[in-house]
Amino acid sequence: VLAWHDVGVVDDFPDGGSWPVVAGGVEIAVFRIGDELFGLRDLCSHGAARLSDGYVEEGCVECPLHQGLFDIRTGQHKCAPLTAPVRAYPVRVVDGRVQVAVS
Ligand code: FES
Repeated sequence: VLAWHDVGVVDDFPDGGSWPVVAGGVEIAVFRIGDELFGLRDLCSHGAARLSDGYVEEGCVECPLHQGLFDIRTGQHKCAPLTAPVRAYPVRVVDGRVQVAVS
């Protein structure tokens, strides 16, 4: 069962950015690409780094620690040194509010 958690107003998530939020007790990095919002677990699968501190480019986020790349839409890892994806969480906008689903 998906539980949707409010994490703020959509205007606080401008295009191209990344933000740390907590939804249902889970730390999640929220990204915005155009009009779409995405959520990834806010912990790199390779080490103790927050993806919300990463560099966003062309649909990917670059880990700030060793520059591993993840696909923002899926959490799929794209290059070394990563060997595992990170979990992706559904994000939606309802009445101008951003909601993240945690099951
Ligand atoms: Fe993210 Fe190493 S901690 S690439």
